[in-house]
Amino acid sequence: MHSSAQEELYLAASKVPWVPQGDGIYFKPLRINRKAGSWINLLKVQRAGRVNRHRHLGPVEAYVLAGSWRYLERDWVAKAGDFVFEADDDIHTLEVVGDAEMITLFSIHGPFEYLDDQDNVIGAETADSKLDRYVRHCEQFGIELAPIIF
Ligand SMILES: [Fe+2]
Repeated sequence: MHSSAQEELYLAASKVPWVPQGDGIYFKPLRINRKAGSWINLLKVQRAGRVNRHRHLGPVEAYVLAGSWRYLERDWVAKAGDFVFEADDDIHTLEVVGDAEMITLFSIHGPFEYLDDQDNVIGAETADSKLDRYVRHCEQFGIELAPIIF
């Protein structure tokens, strides 16, 4: 094994678990780059789930695989097959539209901070926090770690 940044990755993603991250919210990490602080994951949000208001410190790309969702702060609805880009500093709140759960591939280039209504930071997610949550979940359920850490 070498440590080149160009090293390829083949991942049987079906073997990576859906890790609970909140009420009706799960993520499946595909690649976590601790040095760059970036990560790629599938996000699954069930009907009643919501990703609370947050601010991204880096840009985000998203490709919707199933279901529909929107940001409360926007007019558009992202549907299966749609692509979304959000610049860094964007603040939004993600909510599912319709009855079906959504699954979306997110590429996240830096931490994001959860905000309250007065824009106070009340929590954060980073590449390390996603990794920690994934590793703890695998340890709890005896799941082998996938080669997703770079
Ligand atoms: Fe976001």
